[in-house]
Amino acid sequence: MNNFDVFKKNSLLFAPMEGITDEPYRIAMLKTFPEWDQFFTDFLRVPTVGKVNEKLIMDHYGPRIHANESWRKKNSFQILTTPRAQTLAAVEILESLKMHHLDLNLGCPSKKVNSHLGGAYLLSDHKALKTVLSTIRKNFTGCFTVKMRIGYRDDINFSDTLKLIQDEGVEAITLHARTRDQLYKGTADWNYIARAVSEVKVPLIGNGDIWLVDDIENIFVNTKCHSVMFGRSALKTPWLAKLYKEYIEDDAHIDETYLLFQRKNYLDQYFEALLREYREIGWPDNLILKRFKSFSRNLFDDYEDFETIRGSFLRSESLAAFLDHLAALK
Ligand SMILES: Cc1cc2nc3c(=O)[nH]c(=O)nc-3n(C[C@H](O)[C@H](O)[C@H](O)COP(=O)(O)O)c2cc1C
Repeated sequence: MNNFDVFKKNSLLFAPMEGITDEPYRIAMLKTFPEWDQFFTDFLRVPTVGKVNEKLIMDHYGPRIHANESWRKKNSFQILTTPRAQTLAAVEILESLKMHHLDLNLGCPSKKVNSHLGGAYLLSDHKALKTVLSTIRKNFTGCFTVKMRIGYRDDINFSDTLKLIQDEGVEAITLHARTRDQLYKGTADWNYIARAVSEVKVPLIGNGDIWLVDDIENIFVNTKCHSVMFGRSALKTPWLAKLYKEYIEDDAHIDETYLLFQRKNYLDQYFEALLREYREIGWPDNLILKRFKSFSRNLFDDYEDFETIRGSFLRSESLAAFLDHLAALK
C-alpha cells in the first residue's frame, strides 16, 4: 500500500493552527468548504511526565471526526514531541485508533517549546531528530509526514535535514519556507521549496504566504511542489480552496467583481457553520464571541474600510451584537 494515497497531487491543505483547528472548527469547514483536501489538528504536545492515554489523544482529535471514516481520512493528527517525551506511548495509541495520518511538528518557533527540545529546535539537533523520527516510523503504519522550516538559526543544515528526514522513511514533507529565527517576518522564500523538491524523492508540500488563487498557480508552476498548505491565508479566505477549484474548472469566473460578490455570502456561511458547531458542543455565547473576534482579525482585509469594519466586530459586547454587524455588512 502506498500510504501517501491520502493526498492526491495538487491537494490544498488547511494548515494545523493552535487555537483554531479544533474539532468544531474542522467539522464546520468539512461541511461548508469541503473543497479543502485535508485538515490537521493543531499540535498535541506529547507529555514528558503525566498520563498519555486514549482520552488525551481522542479529545485532541475529536471523537465525532474519529467515528466518521471519511472525515477521519481527511483529518491528520499533529504531534509535537522531544526525545524525552513519551512519543512511543502516544504513537501506539494513534496506531491502535487507526489514524490514517500522523504529522510531526518541526516548525514551532516558541521559545518555551524550543528550550524543551521540541518543534523547530529539532532541526538543529540531528541526533535527537533521528531518535524521534525512528520511534514514530517503527511504530506507526499509516502515513507519516513532517512539517518543517528551512532551519533553526539559518539554512546551513537544510539539505542534511531533508536527507535525514527522507532516510527515516517519511511519506511526505511540508516546508514552511522560513527559518525558525525568521518567525513570520518578511515573505516566505519559495526558492527553498523548489530546492527541496529537487533534493528529495518524497512529495513536497509547499507552505508560506500563498494568499491568492494566482499564488497557488505560481507556486505549483515555479516550484513543482506536490501540494500546498495554507495557514493565515486560509483564515483570511476560508473559501480559497473553493475559489481555486472553480478557477481550474472555469477561469473566467475569478475576476474582482466575482470575488467581491461572493465574499459576503461565504462570510455568512462561515460564521453560520461555526456558530452551529460551537453551540452543538455547548459553548456559551461569551466563549463563541471570543473565538469570533479572534477570527475577525484575519478577515475583512479586502474591504475598502477594513479598519472600521474590523473595529466594529472587535468592539462587539455580545454575540448578538457581533452577528448584527455581520448581518449589516455588504
Ligand atoms: C494562529 C496560528 C497557529 C499555528 N499553529 C500551528 C500548529 O499548531 N502547528 C503547526 O505546524 N503550525 C502552526 N502554525 C503555522 C502554520 O501552520 C503555517 O505553517 C504558517 O502560518 C505559514 O503559513 P501561512 O503563510 O499560510 O500562514 C500556526 C500558525 C498560526 C498563524
